[in-house]
Amino acid sequence: MREVTLTDIFTHPITQKYLKRSGVAHALEVANHAFHLAFKYNVSVDLATKAALLHDIGHYEWYRQGKWDYELYRENDIHAIKGAERAHKLLIRLGENPQNAKKISVAILLHTDSYLPEIDVKRSPLQKVVKLADEMDEEKGGNHHYRQIDKSTALEKINYLDQLVEHYLPKQQLSSPSHEQSM
Ligand SMILES: [Fe+2]
Repeated sequence: MREVTLTDIFTHPITQKYLKRSGVAHALEVANHAFHLAFKYNVSVDLATKAALLHDIGHYEWYRQGKWDYELYRENDIHAIKGAERAHKLLIRLGENPQNAKKISVAILLHTDSYLPEIDVKRSPLQKVVKLADEMDEEKGGNHHYRQIDKSTALEKINYLDQLVEHYLPKQQLSSPSHEQSM
């Protein structure tokens, strides 16, 4: 079964440190959306929820005089690149299967268009799921990054999502391993 659970990832100090920047509540909500979208796009609920949970782990804090400076952020942000790298390192350290770690990392890399040149990116189903899940939780003015959740509720939610993934993953009829690269 799974080498690494969502709870393993979520409770790791690295995750806790960086997810606070972009909002734990947002990360959990996106993971929930990704779980549901995974069925629609026929991708692994395990990979979809992990990538979604970690999608914003690459944020840097663009504060100027105590406030988030969007100008500074837009000019300098590379959070998807940084997040892909950070997530990969963390997953490998936790003992994740390297192929899964790669798929999750690339899905994080492509979850936003904000830093990409004007090219048509053909996303795999997993990559689409993470991008869509993020967009589903977006609020005006970046407010989704500020929503709060207390620690025990967050832990309960991630535990529950782990149970759902454990339950549904073996029932999923996923196509060939090349499926991810096929779109
Ligand atoms: Fe996000």
